[in-house]
Amino acid sequence: MKQQAVIKGLGFHVPERILTNQDLERLVETSDEWITTRTGIKTRHVISPGESLSDLTHGASLKALADAELPPEAITHILVATFSPESVIPSAACVLQDRLGLRGRMAQDISAACTGFLYALETARGLLALHPEAKILVCSGDVVTSRVNWEDRGTCVLFGDGCGAAVLTADDGGPRRTVLRDVALASDGALGDLLSVRGGGSGTIYKLGDPVGEEYFVQMKGREVFKHAVRSMTEVSRNLLERHGLTTDDVDVLLPHQANLRIIEAVGKKLGIPNERVFVNVHKYGNTSAASVPIALAEAVHGGFVQPGQRALLTAFGGGFTWAAALLDF
Ligand code: UT7
Repeated sequence: MKQQAVIKGLGFHVPERILTNQDLERLVETSDEWITTRTGIKTRHVISPGESLSDLTHGASLKALADAELPPEAITHILVATFSPESVIPSAACVLQDRLGLRGRMAQDISAACTGFLYALETARGLLALHPEAKILVCSGDVVTSRVNWEDRGTCVLFGDGCGAAVLTADDGGPRRTVLRDVALASDGALGDLLSVRGGGSGTIYKLGDPVGEEYFVQMKGREVFKHAVRSMTEVSRNLLERHGLTTDDVDVLLPHQANLRIIEAVGKKLGIPNERVFVNVHKYGNTSAASVPIALAEAVHGGFVQPGQRALLTAFGGGFTWAAALLDF
């Protein structure tokens, strides 16, 4: 039988600085009432000058390693899911590898926007199938606010910064383990223009001194993204359950991407999972892109929302488009 991958430890890190809806009322023409009723978001954490993604990946990694009761030196592979590495070269994974003092380990970035954590989990599963002795650090986070146009009220109120981390190993039958039972991944690049950050890629050539234009920031057709997000997360979740002969009655807890409370509730409703079994923290952090699902997972586990013996369904959707679901047995 194929060896199972297990999650040994979880942690997350968000910047200390908090932006409230009232703070945003002073920046753009918006209101706490609009943001709350349309998104459910009340606050978001944002980096301060001098802080960068590696402060978040490093902080989250140390917490996940402590939770796994493993020293950093035990890690053999480092995966970082992000669309906002602090540099094009070196990668976010290499920067983290250096900060952890883990010279010589494989270190690789994964780009799948808000779906990055689930893409990274599946990559880790593949690595564990090849190298059962591996101990894999998966970090998934973004400094979304570095790519937010603070003059665009349609996007700037939605996002926050953060990072979640997980340590994965092959199943050793030990007592403290969460089995990563399966992951389903999907994408559709034909819809890429509905949610994009084009600037900074090689498709946009800058000369020294060129001004930064709108293409440098997150551009989104919100209403259309909303519909695709609900449809895709519902569909991929159903497909994954069907693959295992399961239904949503076999799911104890739904941990969806935290982009918008209305999207979260619509996915729960379409899947027939009542609100009390759906984890929500979007009010505190906003949409943290790749960090959203692992922060939700860490908070759900450490806060007791999901209990040993239960099954969780994770699902995410993001730019690309990318979308995915995963099944975890606790
Ligand atoms: O991470 C994965 C990808 N991201 C998402 O999943 C986000 C998906 N989309 C959404 O969450 C929602 O579409 C939004 C929250 C972005 C927008 O909500 P909406 O209900 O779809 O509003 P809308 O874009 O259709 O805009 C409605 C109105 C517009 O005014 P008019 O044209 O009706 O006069 C907007 O100009 O709300 C206006 N508006 C705002 N008003 C106050 C847009 N942003 C704001 C704002 N404050 N911040």
